[in-house]
Amino acid sequence: METNDTKFQTRIDEGEFVEPKDSMPDGYRHHLIRQMSQHAHSEVIGMQPEGNWISRAPSLRAKQILLAKIQDEGGHGLYLYSAAETLGISRSEMINQLHSGKAKYSNIFNYPALTWADIGAIGWLVDGAAIVNQISLQRTSYGPYSRAMIRICKEESFHQRQGYEIMAKMMKGTKEQQEMAQDAMNRWWWPALMMFGPHDTDSPHSSDAFKWKIKREGNDELRQKFIDKTVQQAEVIGLTIPDKELKWNEKKNIYDHGEINWNEFHQVISGNGPCNKQRMEHHIKYHEEGAWVREAAEAYKKEKSNSKI
Ligand code: 3HC
Repeated sequence: METNDTKFQTRIDEGEFVEPKDSMPDGYRHHLIRQMSQHAHSEVIGMQPEGNWISRAPSLRAKQILLAKIQDEGGHGLYLYSAAETLGISRSEMINQLHSGKAKYSNIFNYPALTWADIGAIGWLVDGAAIVNQISLQRTSYGPYSRAMIRICKEESFHQRQGYEIMAKMMKGTKEQQEMAQDAMNRWWWPALMMFGPHDTDSPHSSDAFKWKIKREGNDELRQKFIDKTVQQAEVIGLTIPDKELKWNEKKNIYDHGEINWNEFHQVISGNGPCNKQRMEHHIKYHEEGAWVREAAEAYKKEKSNSKI
């Protein structure tokens, strides 16, 4: 006998998009709320390491580009919070989950941006990894998430290019600038690989994600795509990938690489990374400072709806 869940699965198997007003299994809804809200948190928290460099950008052009990128990231967060709200969770609930530690955000934003080369590494590697993941997510089965991804991906390529330009310029610069760029490469490479999540065999969510076509490609497949693309980009500008086991595999047509430090990954995503405390304190401080704006907006909305009665 056909149940709602089997009818839903048939729709998914036939490649249909799911829209907010459609009936959906609770598990599908909760899986998406978890992933989309954490995606949104990542976009907003990711503004912090880059924001620290606005006042120290080496030129007016660099400052303008960085300001534009950070503004984009804030907008990406808003698209994703709005898309998550279509599943029945409020913005304040999502923010409470972030502040209480119940919700995660991407591991990568718990590392410090120590030099200007870090801004290049973040744009090139972090946004580069995000692009690989988000291009795949454009085909996710939930309509509002897919449409948010299509819009976000259009801006990510600018983010990745500007980061790569910073690294390329530094590699053509003085010895100190080259060393600075290589140092940033050494610090950001492995955490960028961790962004794609644990091996699919260790992922508690991947099987549901595939069943419901939330994920179209696995964590390892996307990570490999990123590695194969980025190693060549590094070679072009003379940067060395900090992985002694990296080797082109003629047979498989991919780069074999060393094992990721999963202990570091789990330490960072459980709140024990270099900057977790600072990132959360900063977010909570400015969220609280901005309470008056939310109250004013609420009051205005209430007054507007009362005046319509
Ligand atoms: N950072 C933090 N937590 C991570 C993680 C990471 N890189 N990768 C996995 N995890 C967490 C998962 O959230 C899950 O924990 P939970 O049950 O508490 O949510 C656990 O580790 C198991 O991981 P799974 O792989 O089973 O979980 P998912 O199926 O959700 O896959 C994911 C993880 C690949 C990150 C997936 O959630 C995803 O594709 N998310 C959307 C993309 C995203 O969030 N990107 C963040 C970066 S945004 C960004 O970089 C902005 C750019 O413009 C700068």
